[in-house]
Amino acid sequence: MHSYAYLMEGNHEIARLEIKTDIKSIKKQSMWAGLKPGMRVADIGCGPGKTSLILHDIVMPGGSVVGIDFSEERISYAINNYNGNVQFKCKDAFDSLDDLGTFDFVWVRFVLEYYRSNSFNLVQNISRIVRPGGILCLIDLDYNCMSHFGINTRLEQAITDCIQTLQVKADFDPFAGRKLYTYLYDMGYEEIDAKVDAHHLMFGLMNETDSFNWRKKVEVINSKFPGLLNNYEGGFSQFQLDFQTYINDPRRFTYTPVISCRGRKKENIY
Ligand SMILES: C[S@@+](CC[C@H](N)C(=O)[O-])C[C@H]1O[C@@H](n2cnc3c(N)ncnc32)[C@H](O)[C@@H]1O
Repeated sequence: MHSYAYLMEGNHEIARLEIKTDIKSIKKQSMWAGLKPGMRVADIGCGPGKTSLILHDIVMPGGSVVGIDFSEERISYAINNYNGNVQFKCKDAFDSLDDLGTFDFVWVRFVLEYYRSNSFNLVQNISRIVRPGGILCLIDLDYNCMSHFGINTRLEQAITDCIQTLQVKADFDPFAGRKLYTYLYDMGYEEIDAKVDAHHLMFGLMNETDSFNWRKKVEVINSKFPGLLNNYEGGFSQFQLDFQTYINDPRRFTYTPVISCRGRKKENIY
């Protein structure tokens, strides 16, 4: 069992995840990883269920998807909106998942970044439900929220300081992405492949989805760690204003590398 609450928990988390989930990216990432019709899939940390539904469309005909998340609220939303097609279970992925059976394809996207100190334990636990010969696909961010150009030094330093504090206080891992390959390697997975793409790449005019996502990130972090920006001249409201000004400036260039890794489980490993 892990000891930290989910960092992004908040009133708008369902809306944030629904809005920012990009159907095209999920299709591309999952098909690159080897997702095919007929497969039985587990979507670990499925949030409000939109990703599970997209994976479900790809495994049709003949396949099935189980979405797993430890948030009762997001699982209820998923059941109300997407059931029929996908099965959803409220479970902590650190606990035993053995009752779910085994899967041809297990997908873990944007979950490990919340577990800096024990993400490998989590992956080992999840690996137990990949059937021998099945595929495990891990996807996460690297330099999470840290690659901005056209930003002033004061704002950039404040972001770096916040992320450093979140690593210690919330077990947040801004470098989760770079660890995924080695996790699969150390567990003895075969046919490992890895790729790097850009996540929320922003240049030119701001779009509403990215604007909402960044606004919520800043608001949630401040509500969870109210003193975090006390040292910023003008406090949180000035930071918020400066950050919005930066992020809305069509001159700025911002992105986060997203790293996808997939491997096939050997017949004789856990
Ligand atoms: C950033 S969201 C990602 C949602 C989705 N996988 C995606 O790619 O858009 C992380 C989700 O993982 C869930 N989560 C975090 N830790 C978990 C755990 N230990 N067990 C189950 N779900 C977890 C959270 O509740 C949240 O819904």
